[in-house]
Amino acid sequence: MSWSLKKDLGRIRNNFPILEKCVYLISHSLGAVPLQVRDDLDRFYTLWADEGVTAWEKEWWLLSEKMGNKVASLLEAEKDSVAMMTNATLCHWVALSTQFSSKRRARNKVVMTDHDFPSVIYAISKVCSFMNWKLEVVRSQGLPGIDVSEIIDRVDEQTLFVATSHVYFKSSYIQDLFQIAQHARNMGALTLIDGYHAPGTIPVDVKTLGVDFYIGGCLKWLCGGPGNAFLYMHPERRKVIEPLLTGWLAHKKPFAFSREMIYTEGAYKLMSGTPPISCLYTAMAGLDIIHKIGKESIRKKSIDQTQMIIENATRREFQVYTPIENEKRGGAVSIGLPHAHQVKQALNKRNVKVDFRQGENDEPDVIRIGPHFYTKDEEIGHLFELIDMILSSGEYKKFGDHSEFVT
Ligand SMILES: Cc1ncc(COP(=O)(O)O)c(C=O)c1O
Repeated sequence: MSWSLKKDLGRIRNNFPILEKCVYLISHSLGAVPLQVRDDLDRFYTLWADEGVTAWEKEWWLLSEKMGNKVASLLEAEKDSVAMMTNATLCHWVALSTQFSSKRRARNKVVMTDHDFPSVIYAISKVCSFMNWKLEVVRSQGLPGIDVSEIIDRVDEQTLFVATSHVYFKSSYIQDLFQIAQHARNMGALTLIDGYHAPGTIPVDVKTLGVDFYIGGCLKWLCGGPGNAFLYMHPERRKVIEPLLTGWLAHKKPFAFSREMIYTEGAYKLMSGTPPISCLYTAMAGLDIIHKIGKESIRKKSIDQTQMIIENATRREFQVYTPIENEKRGGAVSIGLPHAHQVKQALNKRNVKVDFRQGENDEPDVIRIGPHFYTKDEEIGHLFELIDMILSSGEYKKFGDHSEFVT
């Protein structure tokens, strides 16, 4: 039975205990934990306690496959095309490592943008310098987005990878992946997409997009815990690769413990060592709830509520650092406002959770506001009333304008 976001909102919210305690507008960073996760973690413990090592054959060994297939169905991908991994940076390393011994030596260029997630930029730039690949980073010049033509213009016959995001983490700008992938394919380049801010808040169909690699994680919009990143690879491309970052889970017969590496054929070909089983249990419930509500209704609600945030911000003459066009805007809205970091801390103190991102170069400092399918419209009104009060009363001055950890 599916759930309606209008009729069943109360019932849906009852599945997320934190919603009773605070206004949770930070699902772009860490989704609210479903109540069911407690039982799922208990099942993990009970299996371990009752079965010991036979827990592997009862459930654990195939759990990565099961979870990979739940994610695959969300991405409209084929069964057995998604490998679960501990983090998205590692997924990038594995994808890049499929080309470390590439026969396509004439290709030695990687194209990305300065809006891509820093950890991914660090990993790719280190790989490029080790492999002697040339890295071209398209600059955003302080703007929330980059025109697709500026990316496409850099992708040529020398390009090995176009490695960029589906939705930019700081501005929520949705890239035109279809065009990027089409052009990359025409040029013979591979697309390596960081989709962390897409599935769960915008519908994704990797087959229609035509991408080669698609990476994401369950931590944010999919309401799963840490340690649940995923790597989709187009099954046809997977047939011809042998990732150098590998291990025994990628072996055709792992329990033969043979000294010779023979790759398996399915999604496990992209894996390496023992998966973080306990983490996988934290991601089941979120994926099931999202399947039950449906991608289209989540997106519709997200468009309405992000629009509501933009209207509120514009009325107060705050800078909106997120596209105002619905089709270019992801699930969160970044707004530049006076004393952003202090305001964010004052909001947290008042049990309203949002986050802060410092602007680099010409970008504004922003607070990011991420409503999700469980958010009530009134909560957005409440957020802006509090911001007004925190600014006009000077309450923000109680908080420092610098801290090491920003959540
Ligand atoms: C766009 C994007 N990619 C990747 C990550 C996380 O990468 P990792 O799983 O390696 O920590 C984040 C986390 O905030 C992100 O926003």
